[in-house]
Amino acid sequence: MYLCHKKKMLSSTDFIPQPYAETIEKGSFSASAPSNIALVKYWGKKENQIPANPSLSFTLKNCKTITHLHFSKIQFTENFSFELLFEGNPKPSFRPKIELFFERIAIYLPFLNEYHFVIDTQNTFPHSSGIASSASGMAALAFNLMSLEKALNPAMSEDYFYQKASFLARLGSGSACRSLKGEVVIWGNHAETERSSDLIGIAFESIHPHFHRYQDTILLVDKGEKQVSSTVGHELMKQHPFAEKRFEQAHQNLTALKKILTNGELTEFVQLVESEALTLHAMMMTSLPYFILMKPNTLEIIQKIWKFREQTAIPVCFTLDAGANVHVLYPENFRIEVLQFIKNELVVYCQNGQYICDEIGDGALFLN
Ligand code: DP6
Repeated sequence: MYLCHKKKMLSSTDFIPQPYAETIEKGSFSASAPSNIALVKYWGKKENQIPANPSLSFTLKNCKTITHLHFSKIQFTENFSFELLFEGNPKPSFRPKIELFFERIAIYLPFLNEYHFVIDTQNTFPHSSGIASSASGMAALAFNLMSLEKALNPAMSEDYFYQKASFLARLGSGSACRSLKGEVVIWGNHAETERSSDLIGIAFESIHPHFHRYQDTILLVDKGEKQVSSTVGHELMKQHPFAEKRFEQAHQNLTALKKILTNGELTEFVQLVESEALTLHAMMMTSLPYFILMKPNTLEIIQKIWKFREQTAIPVCFTLDAGANVHVLYPENFRIEVLQFIKNELVVYCQNGQYICDEIGDGALFLN
């Protein structure tokens, strides 16, 4: 007789809870969740926040959101009852995003209609730095909501807690599902990654010491509002003439990058990461409508990085988000040389000379 140990595929219904064991009148939880930087990019999505291709990111350490969630029991309400504070002040412009998030997740957290919430949130990175705070923000909020669900159902396992936190965060913002765990996270079905899922991010653990404390210095080239929201950007992939090829390439790049991360192949890392960043921008430049999100200073920085790499053989490279800022990535043992180079040659291209020093980190944390 054969026993089949094949795990069943995760499904959304796995996250609909049974009636809760406990009742709680009021209380509060606090959590921090970091931002993350994608190396294989998520660009294009289907219904219900399902990615068009798998992605992989480094979890960051210093760029994070800290959120306090206060809750008190009320009569069942159809509309969600919450107040939103950003850095201590009411923030009406964030409400629609949270409203939509609550609508999407209410079926998975039925208690949402039975509490009044005060969501009090702040970022460690400067406001309007052009750094997306939706990943860290949604991850921190999802983590707190899971702390409440765990209090209502104390038998919950740690695995389930993290899986569901990632599942919920994804429904707030796709990339947020990669901000719960560290140091490297994969999100999206990938034939060559066991347990990979379109529904949650999973930690990728076989990482070579060369990537230990890998550095990310974020050069703030343009601190303004994003010219294209990621929602609009993802939508553009639906009619995109190169979409299918791009999605296929992301699968292949993920396979290649996993091997690179495991074996510590820095030269290959540099090439794959830069190619992914440029491909993301190439997709934007070849969609309709089309966008150029790099600024002249973005290109100046890229040229300087290439020249420095050629002259020093230090494996420093760049990646980009859907914007003009540049993430400079390099091994920790070259920190002094690269920071000196950044100060001498790249800071002039940053808005008000601003940049943020970060490195690969561990994921979301419970704070009290
Ligand atoms: C270019 O996660 O912000 O940063 O799911 O619509 O909230 P939504 O999109 P979002 O998209 C991130 C796009 C990206 C690449 C990446 O992080 O993988």
